[in-house]
Amino acid sequence: MTTLRSTNPARLDQTVGEVELGDADAFVAAARAVKQAQPGWASVPAPVRGRAIAHIGRLVEDNAEALARLVTAEIGKPYGEALGEVREIVDTCDFFLGEGRRLYGQTVPSEMGDKQLFTFRKPVGAVAVITAGNFPVAVPSWYIVPALLAGNTVVWKPAEYSAVVSAAFYELFVRGGGLPDGVFEIVHADGPATFEGLTRALEAGLVDKVGFTGSSAVGAEIGALTGRHLQTACLELGGKNPMVITADADLELAVEGALFSGFGTAGQRCTSLGTVIVHESVHDQFLSRFTAAVSAATIGDPTQDVLMGPMLDAKFAERYEDYLTWVRPHHRVQGPVGRIAAGNPRAGFVGDPAAGLFYHPAVVDGVRSDDALFLEETFGPIVGVTTYETLGEAIELANLPGYGLSSSIYTTDPRAAFTFRDGIGAAMVSINNSTSGAEAHLPFGGNGKSGNGSRQSGVWVLDQFTRWQSVNWDYSGRLQKAQMDTVELTPDTTFRLPS
Ligand code: UN1
Repeated sequence: MTTLRSTNPARLDQTVGEVELGDADAFVAAARAVKQAQPGWASVPAPVRGRAIAHIGRLVEDNAEALARLVTAEIGKPYGEALGEVREIVDTCDFFLGEGRRLYGQTVPSEMGDKQLFTFRKPVGAVAVITAGNFPVAVPSWYIVPALLAGNTVVWKPAEYSAVVSAAFYELFVRGGGLPDGVFEIVHADGPATFEGLTRALEAGLVDKVGFTGSSAVGAEIGALTGRHLQTACLELGGKNPMVITADADLELAVEGALFSGFGTAGQRCTSLGTVIVHESVHDQFLSRFTAAVSAATIGDPTQDVLMGPMLDAKFAERYEDYLTWVRPHHRVQGPVGRIAAGNPRAGFVGDPAAGLFYHPAVVDGVRSDDALFLEETFGPIVGVTTYETLGEAIELANLPGYGLSSSIYTTDPRAAFTFRDGIGAAMVSINNSTSGAEAHLPFGGNGKSGNGSRQSGVWVLDQFTRWQSVNWDYSGRLQKAQMDTVELTPDTTFRLPS
C-alpha cells in the first residue's frame, strides 16, 4: 500500500488529507464484494431503493457547504461553482427518488388471443464506475444514483487527486442511504492498478457494466476491454467544444458565455469552450470585448468570489504547459500567458499566486483548422478564436476536430440556430448559452471522440443500468405459434368508390 497525500492546488503547502492507495487485488476484492451483494440489493423493492436515494439527497443537501468547501480545498474549484456541483448531486437524487416508484415496464398486446406480452427493466448487475476529479462529486452521482436505484451494486474508483472529497461523498452515500455492506464500495487506486484490476474482474465475471469519465484515449482502451467481454461501457470523454457567433449575435451575451465556458473551472470541464468561430464581420469587435472581459475577470483564491482558481492538480498544470507550446508564430496571443508569478503578474490577482498552480487565462486569435490548438482538446484555460464567412463553413469548422460533446451558437436568427442544430455533430447544443453548464436531467454524453453514444442523466441513463426483459404469457392452454397461428382478416382489395 502506498499513502497518497492530497494537496490543495491553491495552497500547495496545505495537505487536504491522506488516503491509502490499493492495488489490482484490492479492486478485484471490492468487485467480488459488490457482485455478491447484488442479488440481495436487487430484491429490495424499487420504491424502497428510491427512498434510500431520497435520504442520500437530503443528507448531501444538509452537508452541502462542507462538501463544497472540500471540493474547493482539494481541486481548487471556486466555491460558488463547487456549491453548484453539490447541487447537481441533489438534483440527480431528486430526479431518481421518484423513479423508484416508476421503473415502468409495459404491457403489450399479443398477435394471438389468450396471450399477453410484457416488458420489465432488470438491473445489469455489478457496475464499476471510474471517474475524473474535475467534477469529483457531481459526475460520479450521475452513474451511482441511477445504478443503485435500478438495483445494481457499484464499485467506484475516483481520481487520486480528488480522493479526500470522494471519501466524503462515499460516506454520505453509505450513511444517507443506509446501504447494506457490499452495495457500494470505494477503491482508491492509480490508473494502471485499476486497469489491471478491472481486466481481472471482467475475466472473473465480477463486473457486468463499466461507467467511465476521462480522456478519449483511456476511454478507447476501456471500450476495447469491455468489448472483449461483449459489454458496452458508458463512456463520457473529452471535448473540443465550439462556439459559433453569427454576425447578428448579441455580442455582450456571447462574451459572457465565452468567458464562463472558457475559464470557469479554469477551462477544465469536458464541456469547456475550445474554439470561438466568429463571423469575420464581427471578429474585431468580439475579440476586443472578449479580451477586455478576460483581463477584467477576477482570478485567484478559490474560496473567494473569483471566476477562475488554480489548475486541479500538478499533472494538469504540466500538461497545460505542453499545450502552450502549441502556440505558433501565426497566432496572436492576447495578453500574458503561462504561470502567474511575480515576474509574470496578473493585475488584480486575489491572494498569493506563488502559493498555488495559477495560470493566466489565454486567448489565442488566428487559429487555423490544421493547428493542434484547433484540433485537440486542451484541458485548461485556453480559448482559440477563428473566423468564418458562411454558416456552412462555420458548421464544418465546428465539426472538424471530430469530438462531439457540447457546442454553442450565439445568434438572433432562428434559421441559423436550427441549421446549426441540424448540422452539428455534438450531442449537446446550446443556443445563446455557453457550452458548459448542462442541466442534470437532460441526456448528457458525446458522439465521435467524445463517447460511444451512451447517455447519462434523466430517464435516458436507465438504459445504461437496466436491460429490457421481454415476457410472453400464454394462458390459452395450447401452443400458439407466433407468426403461424395468427388470425388473418381478409381485405377486399378490389373495392373502388364509384367514379
Ligand atoms: C464534466 O466536465 O465532465 O455541463 C461534466 C457541465 C457540468 C458537467 C460537466 N454540468 O458543464
